[in-house]
Amino acid sequence: MTSRYAVIGNPIAHSKSPLIHAAFACQTGQDLAYGRVLGDPADFAGEVHRFFADGGLGLNVTVPFKEAAWTLANERSARAETAGAVNTLIRLTDGRLRGDNTDGVGLVRDLAVNQGFRFAGTRVLLLGAGGAARGVLQPLLESGPDRLLIANRTAAKASALAALGAPLGPVQGCGLDELAGERFELIVNATSAGLAGGVPAIPEGCLAPGGWTYDMLYGDVETPFSRWGRTCGAERTLDGLGMLVEQAAESFRLWRGVRPETAPVMEMLRRSASERGS
Ligand SMILES: NC(=O)c1ccc[n+]([C@@H]2O[C@H](COP(=O)([O-])OP(=O)(O)OC[C@H]3O[C@@H](n4cnc5c(N)ncnc54)[C@H](OP(=O)(O)O)[C@@H]3O)[C@@H](O)[C@H]2O)c1
Repeated sequence: MTSRYAVIGNPIAHSKSPLIHAAFACQTGQDLAYGRVLGDPADFAGEVHRFFADGGLGLNVTVPFKEAAWTLANERSARAETAGAVNTLIRLTDGRLRGDNTDGVGLVRDLAVNQGFRFAGTRVLLLGAGGAARGVLQPLLESGPDRLLIANRTAAKASALAALGAPLGPVQGCGLDELAGERFELIVNATSAGLAGGVPAIPEGCLAPGGWTYDMLYGDVETPFSRWGRTCGAERTLDGLGMLVEQAAESFRLWRGVRPETAPVMEMLRRSASERGS
């Protein structure tokens, strides 16, 4: 019998997750259907329970429901616990729901495995202190940088997030306006500034010679933050498409017990993006 999965969010029509999971299923020979659910903010819990009561086996959860999914889960992984957000719900054999968060492992895997970034000995700047930054905090610290600095427009949120991560590794928080004189080998943009075409206001000199930039945002054309990185002389400017595919692969592994190859799926998405962008 075909197993049912879906992504729930609002809006949801733009989501690439059905395409990604269909490609994973085809590649691994798994018999599954993966759909989209437009979530109703007034009845998120009801929709989730109906999906699972109708035989669904797993849900990906996206904006704005990740915190609500965290609350709904009957049990949670350690990384979801730290993140305070759940992007993957798994129906356990006894019918209870387990919540996990695969965003952070998706980011770290894209950087370390796909792109060959070595975290040891590096200084990493994480821009933003919202849901995306919180989701990647634990896996970023576990990847072993010398230092992680979280900088946010609202400094108090960066400090609060750093306090949460402090038991896991060397992390501090500050305001965007406190970065003068700092240098980083990797700058990760987890702000939503790019959605309005902007970049967080940080000094150019923050990027160390040979440094990389990583924008969690992705699109058919170069993102504003990648453009910023390029003008600062970044050795590599990466966008969040790899993170998207890697977080999906980790969800797929949790549900199906098999990890799909991500490279061909990224290749397919990049090809269709460049066709649309040109
Ligand atoms: N590639 C992927 O798989 C993936 C996964 C998750 C998220 N994302 C992306 O990550 C981004 C952030 O998402 P989120 O869920 O964390 O959003 P969020 O919870 O709303 O947080 C937004 C963050 O951006 C900051 N910000 C907004 N506008 C800014 C500006 N003009 N200048 C400087 N900082 C600004 C906010 O600062 P304040 O606290 O001061 O308001 C806050 O820290 C989005 O672009 C999203 O698409 C990508």
